[in-house]
Amino acid sequence: MKTILTGLRPTGNLHLGHYFGACQNYLKYQGKYDFYLEVADVQALTDNFNNPEKVRKNVREITIDLLSIGLDPEKVNFFIQSKIPEIAELTVYYSNLVTVARLQRNPTVKTEMSQKKELFGNNGESITYGFLGYPVSQAADITCFDGKLIPVGEDQLPLLEQCREIVRKFNSIYGETLNEPEPILSETKRIKGLDGNDKMGKSLGNAIFLVDDDEKIKEKVMGAITDPSKIKKDDPANPDICMVYYYHKLVSPEEDVKKVCSECKKGARGCVACKKELIKNMNEFLNPIRDKRKFYEENTKVVDEILNKGTEKAREKAKEQMKKIKHSMMIDY
Ligand code: TRP
Repeated sequence: MKTILTGLRPTGNLHLGHYFGACQNYLKYQGKYDFYLEVADVQALTDNFNNPEKVRKNVREITIDLLSIGLDPEKVNFFIQSKIPEIAELTVYYSNLVTVARLQRNPTVKTEMSQKKELFGNNGESITYGFLGYPVSQAADITCFDGKLIPVGEDQLPLLEQCREIVRKFNSIYGETLNEPEPILSETKRIKGLDGNDKMGKSLGNAIFLVDDDEKIKEKVMGAITDPSKIKKDDPANPDICMVYYYHKLVSPEEDVKKVCSECKKGARGCVACKKELIKNMNEFLNPIRDKRKFYEENTKVVDEILNKGTEKAREKAKEQMKKIKHSMMIDY
């Protein structure tokens, strides 16, 4: 059975961008492959080394989010990155196979670096060795488990490409040992923010989180951007530039979506009524997720057990794979 592997940084709760951009694929593939889901605390520390409490707290938070959307711990091995020392070891070996210049050119690293000026300086002059090298560590994450299929959001593609390069280099020097991973993208690759921004993001302040309660949903949807040319409630408008319609398409039943579209174009629906309908549908979409979250919040022991069990299984797999790798590298003393 092929291995599917993905990771998430425990730095905050999941929002709809994560859900539609990547997590839907986790749900689709669970049970069909040997599935490893990494809570990437070591990677989270590369740009949160000065905030260990945040990372610690979010390991459990993100696991609860993932369980709440319907991932089944019988079908998915949840594990904590820092508890697999083989990943750190492999990172050291791979660091010989990649140039500093190549890492500096990695588009994902470049984007993230420019978003974190307070940490890495205006032009990245204070970038740390650890952050610059995190793609190498991510290549270790993947290949340590012989990860073949990697469900990720679009932003991760340069990291996957970097991993594939490392695999090829490894194989060319030490002999055919590793498999090249392949990304799997979701149908909806990128989710727009409430403000119409191309990307929903926590730091952009335009996200709907899976943990948002009724009150927050109401507040956020009421503030969503609509067609600015629509002034009066019976003005016809263009749903294609309206965030409310955009979210209707994500969470509302198909017949509602059609109605929203045609009524909006004809000027037969006001924005307030349309937003109220979206609030109702959004809550209906979130309710089952909220119910599951409540269970896990009240039973955090269950969550910790899921992580322990998954980590144990992951460790076994990593140990096996390391044996093979060390043999190829002639360091299997
Ligand atoms: N870099 C990913 C992110 O920021 C998280 C991640 C860590 C990952 N290890 C991985 C993704 C391995 C895919 C495969 O979201």
